[in-house]
Amino acid sequence: MKRKVLSMVLAASMIAATLVGCGGGEAAPAATSEPAAEAPAAEEEAPAAEEAPAAEEAPAAEEAPAADAAAPTGNKVGVSMPTKDLQRWNQDGSNMQAELEAAGYEVDLQYASNQEETQVSQIENMINGGCSVLVIAAIEANSLSTVLEKAKSANIPVIAYDRLIMNTDAINYYATFDNYKVGVTQAQYIIDTLDLDNVDGPFNMEVTAGDPGDNNAPFFYNGAMDTLKPYIDAGKIVIPSGQVDFATVGTPKWATETAQSRMENILSSNYADGTQLDICLCSNDSTSLGVQNALAANYTGNYPIVTGQDCDIANVKNMIDGKQSMSVFKDTRTLASQVVKMVGQILSGETVEVNDTETYDNGTGVIPSFLCEPVFADVNNYKELLIDSGYYTEADLQ
Ligand code: GAL
Repeated sequence: MKRKVLSMVLAASMIAATLVGCGGGEAAPAATSEPAAEAPAAEEEAPAAEEAPAAEEAPAAEEAPAADAAAPTGNKVGVSMPTKDLQRWNQDGSNMQAELEAAGYEVDLQYASNQEETQVSQIENMINGGCSVLVIAAIEANSLSTVLEKAKSANIPVIAYDRLIMNTDAINYYATFDNYKVGVTQAQYIIDTLDLDNVDGPFNMEVTAGDPGDNNAPFFYNGAMDTLKPYIDAGKIVIPSGQVDFATVGTPKWATETAQSRMENILSSNYADGTQLDICLCSNDSTSLGVQNALAANYTGNYPIVTGQDCDIANVKNMIDGKQSMSVFKDTRTLASQVVKMVGQILSGETVEVNDTETYDNGTGVIPSFLCEPVFADVNNYKELLIDSGYYTEADLQ
């Protein structure tokens, strides 16, 4: 009974916060980080990331304006990746290098160990080293404006890779996956698995979002929380910790250890009395791994649904072992191939193919983008998705 009352109080206060905080609009409920029982103060909204339509199909390819008339000469491409410490970027970098070299380009591939100043100096070296195009996955969305002014002055086109680079007019194109749809996919899995349209609940959920410095993170968060909003408003899903606004649930640098220690604190404060935890909504695999570590050491109830994204090897192994319920496959080969195509179109002065000219405003205007399709993955389809396609070998997953 106590829990029911508590959940109704929280649901009511979240409805109130929603109506006050975002005008009853589309934004996700941004409840307080106050204890659940207290009505939340005025809420800090998740960054108003433009919400991409949850398009079912990748929209038909459109044509972006041709690259600058004076198409760059030369065939050297600078590829700047954030870190080797998060598995997917190793694949992104090696796929891109292989495909670019196969297409006859010279490649300067650099990893910046998640150090913003390192990435800046690596990009400076690419500019001074004669690169004709830059492909950049930013560590921090707002950290490259100054260095990219130099790229613009040198007439070097820039493709933002997977992560939109903000507040600079030096970005020509953006290549990514449908980030909002990643969150929708995670939430839909929760809705379907718990049959939320036909049961009352309430189900207890805790949220682990991504790096607030990564423009993708609010898209993942909004895609999921917008989809779950009707069930939160109805009290079918409650958040015992009260931690639900994006600023509170974000994980700097997507760090596994940070996600783990936050979940350990949540478990000891809200679940040590035997309270059941039903859902761990995690934006990606590195944070999901931290949450799983915390559950393994600090939680003894029925195991919750645990979401993720990227199909990292450790997480696919955990999906097979039942420690992670699902992930989202973003085939980095697809993205790398698309970027290689765009590089070719830029360097040959052709019209660059894009399929989204509305969603991604980087603060200086909408950046013409190509969105690849993210794909649901779980223990039932990982073999077909990951092994049959050659992304991983059986041995990788032993
Ligand atoms: C995001 C990316 C995700 C996620 C994260 C950490 O920008 O879109 O795939 O895993 O970085 O690498």
